[in-house]
Amino acid sequence: MKEKILEKLKLYNQQHIIDHYMGLTGDEQNRLLNLLDYFDLDLIFRIYGDFLKAVTKKEGLKISPANIVPLPKTPQEEAIREKARDLGEKLIKNNKIAVLIVAGGQGTRLGYDGPKGTFKISPVKGKTLFQLFTEQVMAISKRYSARIPLIIMTSHENDEDTRTFFKDNRFFGLGEDNIYFFRQGMLPTLTPDGKLIIKDRGQIATNPDGHGGSLKALNDSGLLDMLLADGYTELFYCQVDNPLVKIADPVFLGYHYMSESEASTKVVRRRNVEEKVGVYLNFNGQDGIIEYSDLDPSYMKALDEKGEILYWAGNTAIHIFSLPFVKRLNSHGYALPYHCAKKTMDIKTPEGNDNTIDVWKFETFVFDAIPLAKKTCAIEVKREEEFSPVKNMTGVDSPEKARDDMCALFRRWVEGAGAKVKDHIKIEVSPLFAIDYQEFKNKFNGKGVTIEDDIYFGD
Ligand code: UD1
Repeated sequence: MKEKILEKLKLYNQQHIIDHYMGLTGDEQNRLLNLLDYFDLDLIFRIYGDFLKAVTKKEGLKISPANIVPLPKTPQEEAIREKARDLGEKLIKNNKIAVLIVAGGQGTRLGYDGPKGTFKISPVKGKTLFQLFTEQVMAISKRYSARIPLIIMTSHENDEDTRTFFKDNRFFGLGEDNIYFFRQGMLPTLTPDGKLIIKDRGQIATNPDGHGGSLKALNDSGLLDMLLADGYTELFYCQVDNPLVKIADPVFLGYHYMSESEASTKVVRRRNVEEKVGVYLNFNGQDGIIEYSDLDPSYMKALDEKGEILYWAGNTAIHIFSLPFVKRLNSHGYALPYHCAKKTMDIKTPEGNDNTIDVWKFETFVFDAIPLAKKTCAIEVKREEEFSPVKNMTGVDSPEKARDDMCALFRRWVEGAGAKVKDHIKIEVSPLFAIDYQEFKNKFNGKGVTIEDDIYFGD
């Protein structure tokens, strides 16, 4: 192994790593060799070469609006939605649905030092994102007498902390044998001139391989085969950052099933032409998503004849992937394209000084799987009911905004059930009390009730 790796390093002009290697102790050398052996160096330098030549640039795409099921407006559309709900409920009852939450990130942008899923978000009780998702899975499993595996993708950075967090909280009552964890892959980080970066003695800088890596790591971990062997057919997929997500939403599952889709997406109307979301559209004859930063501004800003945003569908990052499709993606070499994020990184120089350098990080995006599916489906959902991601410390997509959105949603439920609610109070409904408005109304009769203080509807 040693000779092979040193030869490769020479081939790819990484003499500084060889020099560093020569100055290490035996143990440190082994650690570095093992790390380098983990990576496919040919792949990483091929990707680097592609970006250098800019062959991966999205140019000359033929773009048009995509095929999207809008919010129902007519009785016929309502009837189709109810049919979708029935079908989705059957899928859940028949143990066809597994749930995957990608949670490889840290709460860095939130100024929070820990796995993002351990961030406290609910407005009254301060429940964490992980607790809210787990309680939803429990509530749905109970409602439909189903077994819904909850699968959490971690990263090398937060795997241990995430597992410990669930253990310390006794898996929030879901049962340890119903929760699975797997780690996403890593790739080496490079400098803009294609050099591996020494981070510490015997260590090189690495980065997670993007949420697209989830579909590969799910396969590599053996979990995909386990799910298929147990008869599961669909994977409900979401990001850890959205406390409003409706886990395993039967309506969404039903539309996915009716359209025989292999890759489905929930979209919301873009807030404005500046909003930093991926855009669901048709390119070169295929529906799929292009990230805002990769889409030409003329498309980002295009308006229709009524002056409304032409490419209006924003990516919520809520998907359903059929499991046989995920298997197929993995069976002929994993084929998602790489993206390059140009960032800066703080390092210590070999002399021990602090330095900030430019770096290139390569990653794959899960939504690049959509154009590879035989059939796809996208449905529009209401932002105020389903999408309020927590990304920034303040302002848009902040915890404060998400808590306000949760309170506003639950206020509509409480008022819809007949109660009067004073302004500016906080309301929280536990998923274990009700997972939707209908269930809430069945359990709570608000006629003649006035709510004057913060309130929690618990299990
Ligand atoms: C993402 C989408 C964007 C979408 C928006 C909705 C991308 C590139 N963009 O933006 O189209 O409109 O969400 O909220 O995905 N993650 C991992 N491992 C990784 C990278 C990310 O688990 O290697 C998880 C993170 O924990 C995070 C989520 O994926 O929860 C989002 O990733 P991020 O790269 O921050 O994308 P956004 O800018 O949030």
